Amino acid sequence: MKVVLATSNAGKIREIEEALQDLGWTLSPLGPLPLPEETGATYEENAALKACAAAVMLNAPALADDSGIEIEALGGEPGVYSARYGNRESDMERNVYVLEKLRGEKNRRAKFVSVVILAYPDGHLETYRGELHGTLLEGPRGANGFGYDPLFVPDGDTRTLAEMTVEEKRAVSHRGRALAALREAHRQGLPERETTPIV
Ligand code: IMP
Repeated sequence: MKVVLATSNAGKIREIEEALQDLGWTLSPLGPLPLPEETGATYEENAALKACAAAVMLNAPALADDSGIEIEALGGEPGVYSARYGNRESDMERNVYVLEKLRGEKNRRAKFVSVVILAYPDGHLETYRGELHGTLLEGPRGANGFGYDPLFVPDGDTRTLAEMTVEEKRAVSHRGRALAALREAHRQGLPERETTPIV
């Protein structure tokens, strides 16, 4: 099956390609096509917006991930707004912003959430969700991954996500879990379909 990746985030693309390699799909980039603004209030809504737009524009199945980090001491912020938290421009600036907000805070608990949606041009959607719980450090560690990876130590590990290889991160991560569910559903061919038409 030929599937369009409805994202321009290089970190997500790397992880999705690695996780789905044994499905034998051809994963193609979105190219210069613009994705809609992420106006949804939930990961599900935003992932559907992106996947449906790409599926309709390119008349092919399209896969989107919408994800974020929810920090307990900040009441679940930034959640769906993780990519633009504090209006900071870069991953590094956003990490500094989070560290400033958490300065002196004892509760460092946080979780990552990923919702992966595969949309078909005929309007059918498949939705997969994964979560990863852990704690935030007081300074960054590691150079791999993207986003908040250098601050985040998953439960049961001592390394940050940025100190893991793509394979190691996939084995534990929110996105890895969502994609494992997708892989499992497709191992035997197409899964049973939900009937949520694109409007
Ligand atoms: P969006 O899904 O395009 O709205 O962006 C999600 C944002 O959440 C990313 O830009 C990162 O800041 C953050 N994020 C999501 N998944 C991860 C991850 O696996 N590691 C680190 N940060 C992540």
